[in-house]
Amino acid sequence: MHKTYRIGESSVHVLKGVNLRVVPGEVVGIMGPSGSGKSTLLNIISTLDFADEGYVEVLENEISPSKFTDNELAIFRRKHIGIIFQSHNLMPEMTAFENVYFALLLKGYSSKRAKKRAEEVLEVLEITSDKMHKNIQLLSGGERQRVAVARALAMDAEIFICDEPTAELDKRNAINLISIMSNLAFTGKTFIVATHDERLMPFFTSVYKLEDGVLNLVKKEV
Ligand SMILES: Nc1ncnc2c1ncn2[C@@H]1O[C@H](COP(=O)(O)OP(=O)(O)O)[C@@H](O)[C@H]1O
Ligand SMILES: [Mg+2]
Repeated sequence: MHKTYRIGESSVHVLKGVNLRVVPGEVVGIMGPSGSGKSTLLNIISTLDFADEGYVEVLENEISPSKFTDNELAIFRRKHIGIIFQSHNLMPEMTAFENVYFALLLKGYSSKRAKKRAEEVLEVLEITSDKMHKNIQLLSGGERQRVAVARALAMDAEIFICDEPTAELDKRNAINLISIMSNLAFTGKTFIVATHDERLMPFFTSVYKLEDGVLNLVKKEV
């Protein structure tokens, strides 16, 4: 894939022929310095943006503007792809519980099942019942990040795209999160994680470094 951003007269060629193949059950690490294009790449993989040249195939579907309308893509994402962003994109006027609960209702869960599932997943991420019903804005950055992760995991997607998911987490929570991902990967879930976080390295089944617009393989589990 190639991707260039154009702003007025200037342009930045961010991805210069990125090639990546990911199979179910992998936990892929994408490392690389700030500005190297990690978020750009993840946006394209998560179907939120398109490459200028080349394309992404997700679950045997070619993702391109000619094959999907925006609305169809939104439905496709909700069904198959869990997205965990740097910026959390949680609903600020809601509680932690409501953020997960309403996402599940939107996915078609009954109220009773959504409540049970939301509570279960938040507890796994150590958002305890006293925190669960607090407005998101009253939680710490790390707690909010865990709520965002809980929401994505609750949705039960096949593929999870995570942009710096442990940036605001202390060591214990970072290891807890990547361990949860690792365990889910054993059940066939797939994770693609952009990160600077060296603590996660041992948990990745493969690691790539994004440098000068291309991906170089750093480690692959055999
Ligand atoms: N929407 C955008 N418009 C213009 N330039 C962008 C946009 N998004 C990212 N860039 C530029 O593309 C490069 C890669 O950014 P990004 O993908 O965010 O890298 P990373 O996530 O590795 O820090 C940077 O030079 C950044 O300034
Ligand atoms: Mg980024």
